[in-house]
Formats: sequence, C-alpha cells, structure tokens
Amino acid sequence: MPQILKLNAISPVADKEFPAGYTFTTEAKNPDGIMLRSFNMHEYPLNDELLAVARAGAGTNNIPIPACTEKGIVVFNTPGANANAVKELVICELFLGGRKIVDAIDWVKTLKGTEGVGKAVEKGKSKFVGHEISGKTLGVIGLGAIGVMVANTAVDLGMNVLGYDPYLSVAGALHLDNRVKTADLDTLIKSSDFITVHVPLTPDTEKMFNADAFAKMKDGAVLINNSRGELVDANAVLAAIESGKLERYITDFPSDELIGVPNVICVPHLGASTPEAEDNCAQMAAKELVDYIENGNITHSVNFPDVCAPRTTASRIAVMHDNVEGVISKVTSLISANGINIANIIDKSKKDKAYMLVDLDAKIPENVVKEIESNPAVIRVRVFQ
Ligand code: MLT
Repeated sequence: MPQILKLNAISPVADKEFPAGYTFTTEAKNPDGIMLRSFNMHEYPLNDELLAVARAGAGTNNIPIPACTEKGIVVFNTPGANANAVKELVICELFLGGRKIVDAIDWVKTLKGTEGVGKAVEKGKSKFVGHEISGKTLGVIGLGAIGVMVANTAVDLGMNVLGYDPYLSVAGALHLDNRVKTADLDTLIKSSDFITVHVPLTPDTEKMFNADAFAKMKDGAVLINNSRGELVDANAVLAAIESGKLERYITDFPSDELIGVPNVICVPHLGASTPEAEDNCAQMAAKELVDYIENGNITHSVNFPDVCAPRTTASRIAVMHDNVEGVISKVTSLISANGINIANIIDKSKKDKAYMLVDLDAKIPENVVKEIESNPAVIRVRVFQ
C-alpha cells in the first residue's frame, strides 16, 4: 500500500483524506508520495517509486522542480488554501507600516518599574506618531488568490488600490473589486505609498526590488514582502532605509543583515501559520495526492498540466510524455491494434511536457503497456484497473 512521507509537520486532518491502507511516516526510504511545507528538498534523493510531491502552501521554490519533472514526479501546491491567513497578516502589516506600533510597544516595555507610567506615556508618545492608511495608495504586485484578497480588503479600508499582474487569471479578474485599478509595474512603483508583493520566486522575479526599483519609489514608501525574501535585494533595502527613501520594510523572511535594523520589521514566516490555513492546505494537498495516486488525476500541479476527469470505465491508463509530435497517435494506435476500445481520452500540455488519461473498455495487457513505455518521448506510464 502507498507510503506517504511527511517532511514537515502537516496537520493531521490530511490523513483522513487517504483511503484505508495508506501509511504515513517521517522516515520512509521509498515513499510513493511526499507532503511538505518549507522543507528544503533540493538535496533530497528522488526515489524511482515517488509519484508526487505535495506542497502544503503556495511557494514551491524549496522543491527541485526540473529534477522532479524529468523523473515524472508531479509537484502539487495548494493555491488559495492559506490566502486568508496571509491576507490578514498583510492587512496587519499595513497598519504596522503606517504607524510606529512595533517601536512604540518596545518603548513601553522600557517603562516597566517607572513611577507614574501614565505621565511617562503621555510625555513620550509623540515620538511614535504615524500615518493612517485610509486615502493612501497601495500597490499590489501579483493578483493571485492572496493579492486579490488583499486588494479588495484594502479598498474597503479606504485605500486607493493599484494592481499589477501580467498573468491575471479569469477567476482573479472576476473576484477583483471594481474599485481596484490596474497599472503597469513602473506606474505602480512610482505612485504607491505602500507596496505589497505576492509573486512566486523565479529567475525573473529574484531581486525585483533592487536599487533601481527603490529609486523609482515615492519618498517614504513602505514595502511589504510576504512572498519570498529573495525577491528583495537586502543591501538595496538597507540603503533605501538609510536614505529615508523607504520608510519601512516589513518582511516575513528575516535575514541576518535585516534583523535589528531600525524601520525593518522581520516576522518569522508566519503568513500561513494559523490552524485554519494549515488545515486547509493539508486537506487540499492530501486530496490532490489521493486523486493522483488512485486515479491519475492532476489538479494544481506546477510542473504538469492539470488533467482531471471522472473515471468512465474500470480501466484507465495515464501516460506522461514529452510534448512532441506523434505520441498521442502512437499510444492510441497501439491500444486499437490490440482490439481495445478507447472510451474517453484527454491530453493536455504544459510547456514541453504533456499528460494523457485514456479510459478503456477492457483491461490493457502488460505487453502493450511495455510498448508504450518503450517510446523515448514517454516519461512514465501508470495503469489503473
Ligand atoms: C507558502 O508558500 O504558501 C507559505 O510559505 C506556506 C508556509 O508557511 O508553509
């Protein structure tokens, strides 16, 4: 029976999604599936039996995606499952960005034991005057599940919101409040009092906040980063804080050079750390794994196309292959040549990889499976019957 390896603590609600017989471990040598949060898998051995890796969260930069793809290992994430938790932290950080709440609370701690605390508070509080967020402009970079929720809540709080996302999905556009204005990246950076970033870490987005970006910002802007630390060049942040260009930098990704710097607020990667978000992510990740292991269905994969269809017959074959000419026709002709009717077929591609689900009216013999597997463009074949 399939073994699921958990590389991080995953909410136990996940276990209930698996059919009887699955085993869960923190040490399996040859797991069929892996569940994880931020565990760094880059040096982790990928065993031949491994079918899928499910990230209980959005970011997958801790997973060796190209190596998984080459071995036919599907990598899933759980888009939107922790979006509300992250949104709430971002909204909290907008207030922390506008007002000197963190410094003020730290200062109050120094008054412990002071006689007449009330008087000392009234005398000292003027150092901590801050701004309201209402009426200010917020730029939201990345309008996925989190960005849309942040943008919508911010307009409700009276902010003018600019959004930028070259990959905005139909679902994202439909959920976006019509008071949110879209802008190109340059305009957003130049016009915003607050900027919050919600994009994945990729070679294109790494250090997108560098000295050039800071130079374009309004004086005294606030930058909020709950996506990944590497999106921001830490040295450029320090220079921008030092010059006053940036009033505050708030990040969920502390690094040594940022900790303890005045006007830099480091939060210990708490965006998704609520029991609600942890349960949602664990449940979604588990459902994705189960449907893939049991039926070959792919939903929310970052390296293979989403191909998901209800089983129409008792026999199904799943073929993962390179997105090259001729694979589909070779597979279907081999099946037909063996006298098996294809009841349903679906094949989709994502960049240079593709995935096919074929429901059959009869069991597929082992030799036909072997022949399909022998095609060099075929990465992996699985049979469900
Ligand atoms: C994410 O990428 O969604 C977060 O990093 C999730 C987490 O904290 O595990």
